[in-house]
Amino acid sequence: MTGTAPTAQTAGTGDAPTAFLEVRDLKIHFPTDDGLVRSVDGLTFQLERGRTLGIVGESGSGKSVTSLGILGLHNRRNANVSGEIWLNGKELVGSSEAEVRRLRGRDMAMIFQDPLSAMHPFYTVGQQIIEAYRVHNDVSKQVARKHAVDMLGKVGIPKPDRRVDDYPHQFSGGMRQRAMIAMALSCDPELLIADEPTTALDVTVQAQILDLISDLQEEFNSAVIMITHDLGVVAELSDDILVMYAGRCVEYASVDDAFHRPLHPYTWGLLGSMPRLDRERSERLLPIEGSPPSLINVPSGCAFHPRCPYADLNGDKSTTERPELVEVEPGHKAACHLPLDRRREIWADEIRPKL
Ligand SMILES: Nc1ncnc2c1ncn2[C@@H]1O[C@H](COP(=O)(O)OP(=O)(O)OP(=O)(O)O)[C@@H](O)[C@H]1O
Ligand code: SF4
Ligand SMILES: [Mg+2]
Repeated sequence: MTGTAPTAQTAGTGDAPTAFLEVRDLKIHFPTDDGLVRSVDGLTFQLERGRTLGIVGESGSGKSVTSLGILGLHNRRNANVSGEIWLNGKELVGSSEAEVRRLRGRDMAMIFQDPLSAMHPFYTVGQQIIEAYRVHNDVSKQVARKHAVDMLGKVGIPKPDRRVDDYPHQFSGGMRQRAMIAMALSCDPELLIADEPTTALDVTVQAQILDLISDLQEEFNSAVIMITHDLGVVAELSDDILVMYAGRCVEYASVDDAFHRPLHPYTWGLLGSMPRLDRERSERLLPIEGSPPSLINVPSGCAFHPRCPYADLNGDKSTTERPELVEVEPGHKAACHLPLDRRREIWADEIRPKL
């Protein structure tokens, strides 16, 4: 594909779903000199308002590419996006860039890992919130300014009527993160995506920010997607968990099922590598051997097979056939060839006792 060729942006033809957010068979591929990077490769999930979905997976599994894709932030010239993203009855993959831009900020917003990347250094924090607010709301500057001060106050910034005129660099890391949250929430987005919102912050501020997101979610009944490496954060804030590996969902479950009855070897690995409070942070219990695959040469069959201790139990199926994501219990899906009973046994007898 050349830079000027039309993108492979293809809208699905499926019917409008009833869920607030429904992602169907989403694929986001980047043609590069080294080959096609399949960052997201057939992702399907749903999310309702008022609910929080935690997306977890190792570095490079496609979490950020997925979030940027939902917000329509990939440059259509170098990303091939296909599948369907339905937000409130509207399909976004086939919508014009202008239409998606209109929804961004009004219906959906994102909290980025690095607040500086989302803020302009030459404008005050207030100007940026005011600007974002006025794009979608026909109000005077004065009304928008009052709204900006209110939002800054709401996210816990002291003396918001004064800080509103500060520049981003005048804020500390934690305050800047709050200011970005204020910016993201200033239009009461129905869908909020928080991509590693707290990694750069110290533990106390982290906790405050997470509380803030859940308070604001309650107030606005927003749907939230929380992306994090920290399973503890997921456990605390999410209703459901989507475990991502090599651009696909390998397990989708309620928090309770994901932590107490997980049915995918990769999820066992993640739980096993979770740091525990009673141990050194660097000490992992059962680390997952090996590293995540290149998304240019994704392993055949089950992408996890080179690292999976159970791959041999399925003849050659794990290396030749891609396991489909199947619902094994209501609301609980997993993609693995191992017979379900065998997985339950392994979890109960081999994995759980070691955690
Ligand atoms: N514009 C791009 N062009 C080519 N490859 C890309 C592009 N953006 C992302 N990728 C690749 O897509 C894969 C998934 O990246 P992504 O940023 O979604 O990972 P992630 O799960 O968010 O990881 P992390 O936990 O480190 O944030 C990576 O291999 C990355 O190099
Ligand atoms: S399909 Fe095979 S390789 Fe993949 S997780 Fe299941 S057992 Fe492991
Ligand atoms: Mg990321």
